[in-house]
Amino acid sequence: MKILIINGPNLNMLGRREPEIYGSTTLSDIEAEILEYSKKYDDVQIEFFQSNSEGQIVDKIQACLDNFDGIIINPAAYTHTSVAIRDAIKAVNLPVVEVHLSNINDREEFRKISYTAPVCIGQITGFGKDGYKAALFCLISHIKCNNC
Ligand code: DQA
Repeated sequence: MKILIINGPNLNMLGRREPEIYGSTTLSDIEAEILEYSKKYDDVQIEFFQSNSEGQIVDKIQACLDNFDGIIINPAAYTHTSVAIRDAIKAVNLPVVEVHLSNINDREEFRKISYTAPVCIGQITGFGKDGYKAALFCLISHIKCNNC
């Protein structure tokens, strides 16, 4: 089983960016933790992708077709604006879990709206970096039970 983990704009700055909101762990440390966690599954391969550009994220989601079994995405600021990323998720028809480090429902009003969550199988928000591991667990269970 192949799973792609996508991180959107400014998440490459984790560790230095607003640590009181997003924590002090860097993106590469989070990725290493996810990889370690994924070792408990014999049959799961993880790939990572980060981009600050909406078009590159759309291209990457499209490229998942026939190549990946599911996607975990933190679209970052594009969560609240991107019809293009939403349409790409819908177009590939793969199971996608949306993750946010912070609790987007407990912040500014504009962050409470997610364009992407309605086309995902679920959203995990507010659990910091652990949200990615929770998403991986849920996505793998979902795929293994044949999208039940
Ligand atoms: C975020 C929440 C977004 O509102 C914000 O624009 C981000 C990060 C999160 O992980 O909490 O860049 O997606």
